[in-house]
Amino acid sequence: LDDLLAEGVSGRRVLVRADLNVPLDKQTGDITDDGRIRAVLPTLSALTGAGAKVVVCSHLGRPKGAPDPQFSLGPVAGRLGELLGTRVHFATDTVGESARSTVDALADGEVALLENLRFNAGETSKDDAERGAFADQLAAFGDAYVDDAFGAVHRKHASVHDVPARLPHVAGRLVLREVEVLSRLTGEPERPYVVVLGGSKVSDKLAVIEALLPTVDRLLIGGGMCFTFLKAQGHEVGSSLLEEEMVETCRTLLERSEGKIMLPVDVVAADAFAPDAAHDTVPADGIPSKRVGLDIGPETVAGFAVALKGARTIFWNGPMGVFEMPAFAHGTRGIAETIAKADAFTVVGGGDSAAAVRALGLDESSFGHISTGGGASLEYLEGKTLPGIAALEN
Ligand code: 3PG
Repeated sequence: LDDLLAEGVSGRRVLVRADLNVPLDKQTGDITDDGRIRAVLPTLSALTGAGAKVVVCSHLGRPKGAPDPQFSLGPVAGRLGELLGTRVHFATDTVGESARSTVDALADGEVALLENLRFNAGETSKDDAERGAFADQLAAFGDAYVDDAFGAVHRKHASVHDVPARLPHVAGRLVLREVEVLSRLTGEPERPYVVVLGGSKVSDKLAVIEALLPTVDRLLIGGGMCFTFLKAQGHEVGSSLLEEEMVETCRTLLERSEGKIMLPVDVVAADAFAPDAAHDTVPADGIPSKRVGLDIGPETVAGFAVALKGARTIFWNGPMGVFEMPAFAHGTRGIAETIAKADAFTVVGGGDSAAAVRALGLDESSFGHISTGGGASLEYLEGKTLPGIAALEN
């Protein structure tokens, strides 16, 4: 971004790809966590301050390539305007008449937000020509392109991968910071290096577990995904979340892990998946058949804390339990507080863990870095080539 600013952007249209994919309340549609909007402010303010006409684009949710009101970026435009302290002109389509007239009317230093990129099939198309045609339309709105959508750099989508091939392109402040921080983890992290993984699906995390095992000193596993590992150890998991087809792979990983993988020794098991369900703490190898594990237990929190003690580098991705329900938030809170207090370089990755930090009222500044990327940060740590980063390097 500094290179672009040095060239001078006053009066030029700068197309900024942001990741404004924020969580919305299912009933009210209100934004429940605006962390991703805040994260892009430094880039946007730098551009408006330098007199650019800023055209912001983003996806929200996973609409199916056609307009769908529940995924409109309208509410995000309002919040973005409040945070920037200036009106954000909202285009009610992405590359149509509204977008054209909104962009044409922009004065120097003003900001426009286009409607959800994924209302257009070309954005996510696997067909290069279809994606390319949509990228042509988007690129027509900018004289230069800034990628500040770290959360989407792992997607080979038109706005991430194809637009930069059509315009002078740079990384925004957020993308640069994320890559700088995460590259400290893939380089030579200070040891001991401890990784804490949670969240619901093992299948989403397998590749990163395989990639991390040779580098980490300890890998602590909680959250919904731990039950598939417990099953692989031969334990019954009641009605807890289980990916049966992953059990064998988990068994192989446990065998190959040289004792680095640490699993819960107790879990909070409930009668039902509900905030007010009756529950108690049971040993991880004795979950009753009709019970569902919704959090890691206190002994596990204590054991994980011992494993984290003395760590010099910590990466945490994924909640330890259903933290949205207070009865099952203790595990996530316990681990988050331990990580916050650690005398280590700490990185929190993933939308859910970042949202948990904020929802539990923890001080964000006690973590070294809170990544805006979920899948993106994991794929970065796997060492994969990320289409959005590769496009910028090109
Ligand atoms: C995310 O939430 O991880 C990013 O915004 C990417 O969203 P996607 O997984 O729907 O591509």
